[in-house]
Amino acid sequence: MNKKVAVIGAGNVGATCAMYLAEANIADIVLVDIAEGIPQGKGLDLTQAGPVRGYNAMVNGTNDFKDIEGANIIIVTAGMPRKPGMSREDLLTANADITKSVAENIKKYAPDSFVVMVANPLDLMTYHMQKITGFPTNRVFGQAGVLDSIRFRAFIAMELNIAMTDTQAMVLGGHGDTMVPIPRYTTVAGIPISELISAERIKAICERTAAGGGEIVKLLKTGSAYYAPAAASVDMCKAVFNDEKKLLPASAHLTGQYGIDDIYIGVPIVLGAGGVEKIIELTLEDGELKALQGSAATYKKHLSELGY
Ligand code: NAI
Ligand code: 2OP
Repeated sequence: MNKKVAVIGAGNVGATCAMYLAEANIADIVLVDIAEGIPQGKGLDLTQAGPVRGYNAMVNGTNDFKDIEGANIIIVTAGMPRKPGMSREDLLTANADITKSVAENIKKYAPDSFVVMVANPLDLMTYHMQKITGFPTNRVFGQAGVLDSIRFRAFIAMELNIAMTDTQAMVLGGHGDTMVPIPRYTTVAGIPISELISAERIKAICERTAAGGGEIVKLLKTGSAYYAPAAASVDMCKAVFNDEKKLLPASAHLTGQYGIDDIYIGVPIVLGAGGVEKIIELTLEDGELKALQGSAATYKKHLSELGY
């Protein structure tokens, strides 16, 4: 294959990204981790699944960041996941150090790549990644909105007992307790959900969506979700590879849109071969805009803890 994706972190999210990428058969994959043997073992295992899963992609595991040379896209999952009782922001200090060392290696070995950030706290780590690499902001973006909106979509499909694929949903704001599900822009086959679900149930579904990551942490007890997060990250990768011009929510760098400046936060973007090709400014109602700006304000505070 002439395209290459590097996945940094061969843990739950990273290894699952490598699996979905291999099955998409769009690129060879390099799986990088600091843990000796883990990326090599998982890479070999995934490569050996190719003959029956119907893919030719090679998954090369390594501890050497030099092997990311030539990668078109880098998915960064290196970082600690939360445990029950922790917020994503509790991971700030530990994951900031990991992100810094990963960013320095990306800058050194893959200076022309696109970076899909996944490590938490997502919006803050995406900002940190962009600052340390110095890459243009269209080439550094964060995956969270796709995950939050597919959770929202799944809950709607479960509520109505209808096809998941007929649902569309929009979730804005930071990937944390302050995320802002937008029911007004959420539909089933084009029909606003307010026509199909009571206001009370919509509110409950929005709350479950916002707490969706925590619900899984509580169930797993030893880590956080990874199947849906990896699916969402690979979806973004494909949008760039195939120049899909996909409109989806992602953590992008704002420069005044929605009255928010110099912060990464979840907004609708158009994702294509140029990375973040456009930031869409929706008309929001007062309460929605305030919630989005409130979400941004909490992240500004955390950025100052990182020295920004
Ligand atoms: P995990 O613990 O299974 O895997 C993390 C891996 O990163 C480990 O294998 C570890 O050895 C590796 N690592 C640590 N430092 C590294 C470094 N400097 N270079 C390379 N690899 C390094 O954790 P999991 O479940 O895969 O989650 C990873 C991160 O993704 C966490 O921060 C988690 O909170 C976040 N996450 C974000 C989501 C999102 O939607 N943005 C969704 C799910 C998880
Ligand atoms: C999630 O939402 C942990 O951020 C991760 O599942």
